[in-house]
Amino acid sequence: MSTIIAPSILAADFANLERDIKLIHDSKAEWVHFDVMDGLFVPNISFGFPILQAVRKHTNKFIDVHLMIVQPEKYIKEFAKQGADGISVHYEGNLHIHSLLQQIREEGVKAGLVLNPHTPISLIKDVLHLVDTLLIMSVNPGFGGQKFIPETVKRVEEAKKLCDELNPNTIIQVDGGVNVENAPLLKAAGARSLVAGSAVFKSSNPTQYIQQLLEA
Ligand code: DX5
Ligand code: ZN
Repeated sequence: MSTIIAPSILAADFANLERDIKLIHDSKAEWVHFDVMDGLFVPNISFGFPILQAVRKHTNKFIDVHLMIVQPEKYIKEFAKQGADGISVHYEGNLHIHSLLQQIREEGVKAGLVLNPHTPISLIKDVLHLVDTLLIMSVNPGFGGQKFIPETVKRVEEAKKLCDELNPNTIIQVDGGVNVENAPLLKAAGARSLVAGSAVFKSSNPTQYIQQLLEA
């Protein structure tokens, strides 16, 4: 099974968003990663609905919405309506994970669960049957361009074991500091989807870089 590359538009040039979406659209990347930050859940603010609409207008690829916001239950319906194909929520800071995952699925989109670097993988075992995408953060969420946390590789291996046992359909995804150097390690550990922002958009040839991530 080939790797699903999910370029993060957090690193795109917002003054040339149409160009950058088109670049992803015409590339081998299957997903577009869309980071929503509210300045409360993480110490940074990114973008929301109007930008999602703009992205949706220029691609029919899978839009993978990563919510780094408090009270995501209030906004899931709207994100689904505005064009998200998958919505991921954090394990941390949410009291009712089971219900959140159900809520996402009820909107007819793929349900994702995200784990920060400190959260034990084993905590998710009783909801894994509801998880379409398990996102293992490889940086602390909030900013693009951070350094990859090497311990992530072991965590992906652990997640892969758990998924093989409890829900082999779950797509394991990694987000933060992903590049062509760590991509092979992550794939070997069991990651099926790789998010990459800076590495793609700061490279001299983003289209080619996406291809390199795919083949790494
Ligand atoms: C970080 C975001 C990431 C970010 C990744 O909180 O969740 O998706 O865009 O960016 P890079 O690839 O630059 O680390
Ligand atoms: Zn993200």
